[in-house]
Amino acid sequence: MDGAGVYSFAMTEDIYDPNFVKGLFNEMSKTYGITNYISSFGFCERWRRQCIELAPLAPGMIVYDLMTGMGECWNLINQKLKNEGKLVALDISEVMCSQASRQREQVPALDVSLLNEDFLNNSLSDNSAHCVISSFGIKTFSDDQKVVVAEQIARILKPGGSFSLLEISVPKQPLLRPPYMTYLKYCIPLTGKLFMGNPDNYRMLGVYTERFKDCRLMKSLLEQAGLRVELKDLFFGCATALCGTKSK
Ligand SMILES: C[S@@+](CC[C@H](N)C(=O)[O-])C[C@H]1O[C@@H](n2cnc3c(N)ncnc32)[C@H](O)[C@@H]1O
Repeated sequence: MDGAGVYSFAMTEDIYDPNFVKGLFNEMSKTYGITNYISSFGFCERWRRQCIELAPLAPGMIVYDLMTGMGECWNLINQKLKNEGKLVALDISEVMCSQASRQREQVPALDVSLLNEDFLNNSLSDNSAHCVISSFGIKTFSDDQKVVVAEQIARILKPGGSFSLLEISVPKQPLLRPPYMTYLKYCIPLTGKLFMGNPDNYRMLGVYTERFKDCRLMKSLLEQAGLRVELKDLFFGCATALCGTKSK
């Protein structure tokens, strides 16, 4: 898929096809970090921190960072693990994974395994994680795929294990929604362009977010999968987070 064609391709193809999503992030990997940071005014970092705070991480745990991207959460996770435990990071994009492997330098003493896999078809074992984390990792799944994501999270968590998921969201407040969506649709692509990225790719993030809305559907799917779930609105609903546990 060539860079110029991603957005127009998206208008005719299934934007939830894992190969489409993979191509999008492969292409965005060079500019994703800086564009995300600048265009969110640093909020992405604050929200990642909140996502990690919502998980009861402790030294010795096995933690799965799903849709890990470039390993943006690794350092935050390790601040809780204190170099003791294991981090398993998974992402479908091989280019994001190769960028993530550079994060190993940030956490040299932590045991990290990086899996370049589609989470919808993953190799993770049943009942194997003390905690599952994912920041900004669920908006690119269709509603049907979210059912699989919820079932997989329930499957891989150990009994008594916990999870924390966070995603950028469309605020419910009518006054906030239009400026926020304008910002997602126009300002973020412009920022991407300033940093030499393809603005069409960043425009796609707005498309996914508009369709995703917020974590409420994901909450009920996780509950249907047997998990106990709590929803948190962050910064007037511009992001939503889900945290909870699997029963013992
Ligand atoms: C918006 S990025 C988030 C990255 C990172 N967690 C962060 O905090 O910025 C979403 C990531 O999810 C990955 N992803 C999307 N669909 C996936 C799938 N089916 N399986 C595994 N990873 C997937 C993408 O490749 C991308 O790196």
